[in-house]
This record gives sequence, C-alpha cells and structure tokens, in this order.
Amino acid sequence: MTVAAVVPGSFDPITLGHLDIVRRACERFDRVVVAVLENPRKQGLFPVDERMALIRAVTDDLANLEVDRFEGLLVDFCNARGIGIVCKGLRAVSDFEYELQMAQMNHRIGGIETVFMSTSPEHSYLSSSLVKEVARFGGPLGGTVPDVVADALRDKLG
Ligand code: PNS
Repeated sequence: MTVAAVVPGSFDPITLGHLDIVRRACERFDRVVVAVLENPRKQGLFPVDERMALIRAVTDDLANLEVDRFEGLLVDFCNARGIGIVCKGLRAVSDFEYELQMAQMNHRIGGIETVFMSTSPEHSYLSSSLVKEVARFGGPLGGTVPDVVADALRDKLG
C-alpha cells in the first residue's frame, strides 16, 4: 500500500523549519505533496508560483515529493488527490490548540488524519512572518531560510 501525505501551508516563503518537516515527511511516507494555499483574501509577499518555484528549488533531490497549489478546503484537495494524511510541524504548545482544532475539523468533514511532527529545536522559533520582518530591515537571514530564499527575499525587499 502506498501511503501519501500532504504538507500544507502558506510557505511565504519556505523556511528551514518547513524544509526540515518536508524532508522528514519524505522519509516516512511513500509520496508527499507540498500544497501551497492560494488565499484570495491574503496577497502575501511572494505570488504562489514564486513560492512553488522556491520550494522546488530546495527540494529537487527528493524523488517522492510533488509541489502543488490549492484553493478552498484542504480536505477537498486531499480527497481529489487520493491523500489520506496531513502532516504538520508543531513548534510549540502555542501552535497546538489551533492545529488540533483544524485536525479535528479535517477529520470530521473529510475523514483525513493529521500527523504532527515536532519541529527540530533549532527551528522552533522560526516563522515566515518573522523572517520577512528581519529581511525587511536588512537583518541577517543565516540559519533561517535556504540561501536561494534569502536571495529572493533580498531581491524582493531591497
Ligand atoms: O502556513 P499556514 O498559513 O499556517 O497554513 C495554514 C493552512 C494552509 C494549512 C490552513 O489554513 C488550511 O488548510 N487552509 C485551507 C482551508 C481549510 O481547509 N481550512 C481548515 C478547515 S479546518
């Protein structure tokens, strides 16, 4: 039996924390799809196609990984693609409450299971929002995002 999982998110942009979860998911599942949310109500810094290109650029060694986009409900994407598992990283207890609610709702409305992976401690403080804030003010990005993403942030933010 082939076990497929989706790693969903905004990925605006992908951080080393995301990448760690994606890589570990690829070791545990036969097939992994990184699904980038297209949110018409939230523009973001990078357009979705640029986010996907950055994800592809830093995961091209992962043979069982696909990068895709989705709109609407994650469970609809999962069911349309034959994926039964959502895989999410948990950075801290503060993530847990909302993540648990989403996991329970996704199980209720779509029969989708959620598997949580604990974020590696060196990444537990990381978020795309914080990285963008540091980049906006010209701060150092080492250890937070892959180099290609740091370059893209500098191009975008000057
Ligand atoms: O990186 P993010 O922004 O924390 O990712 C959140 C994401 C995309 C996983 C979540 O918002 C999501 O699944 N959105 C799609 C709409 C949906 O299905 N919501 C959950 C219903 S419980």
